Amino acid sequence: MSEKGLKIAFSGKGGVGKTTLASLFCHLYAKEGRKILAVDADPDANLGMALGFPPEIRKKIVTIADDRQLIKERTGAEPGTSGQIFVLNPRVEDIPERYVVEHAGIKLMQMGNVTKGGAGCACPESVLIKHLLRHLVLGRDETVIVDMEAGLEHLGRGTAEGVDAFVVVVEPGQRSFQTAMAVVDLAKDLGVTKVFLVANKVLPGDEETIREALKGLTILGFLPYHQGIARADLAGQSLFETEPLISEKVMEIKAKLEEELL
Ligand SMILES: Nc1ncnc2c1ncn2[C@@H]1O[C@H](COP(=O)(O)OP(=O)(O)OP(=O)(O)O)[C@@H](O)[C@H]1O
Ligand SMILES: [Mg+2]
Repeated sequence: MSEKGLKIAFSGKGGVGKTTLASLFCHLYAKEGRKILAVDADPDANLGMALGFPPEIRKKIVTIADDRQLIKERTGAEPGTSGQIFVLNPRVEDIPERYVVEHAGIKLMQMGNVTKGGAGCACPESVLIKHLLRHLVLGRDETVIVDMEAGLEHLGRGTAEGVDAFVVVVEPGQRSFQTAMAVVDLAKDLGVTKVFLVANKVLPGDEETIREALKGLTILGFLPYHQGIARADLAGQSLFETEPLISEKVMEIKAKLEEELL
């Protein structure tokens, strides 16, 4: 691996396990002594909780899309509006230092919801977040892990091209496979060349069916359905601490990814 940390984005249908996997990747890289920037780019943000950030730290997070003053200051336009003239190339380089919170060696920032202004909106907050993500992927040295929604709303072509690996999480089910295929196509259209899959919530004996359904795509690994994962979520605990066996499995998936990127 080079000095510059990998930039890895997680996507997939709702509820498949994107946040679970992204959080474990963060912890595993942090354990290796790497600098980690965890980016919650899902409008329904909960990566901080999955990472085990205590409530008093999570309370301090200022979500980018909700910071009206920042949006106005950088884009020159009122958030939530469209049709205004605003700066298309806002300054973003200083934003990470000001907006991250840190716990257990992991820095976290939260992008928030920009879809309020309508699908695919070119509203000021969306422009700011797109530029910020682009900067995080192209301009930062640390390992950057992005937890995304299935829509890839914030991924411009330039950003997508800078992502080292795009991991699409699937759960056993035709609907999830279908979303995964759509995400894979979308990512490839955007210029991401390294697209991989992880099958999550897999029950014993289902591996072959999944392989068959996802033929032609690289599956990094299978993470079993495990009550401990759901239980950690229910208890609001970090899986990394409560379920070392799951972390070990994810470590194998991470190793496979790194092997694929060599
Ligand atoms: N392998 C697994 N076994 C059991 N439960 C799991 C597993 N992976 C994830 N879960 C549970 O499934 C739920 C959804 O997981 P997670 O939040 O990681 O998915 P997501 O794709 O990020 O969802 P969203 O689209 O809502 O952001 C959580 O309650 C989580 O604890
Ligand atoms: Mg999530």
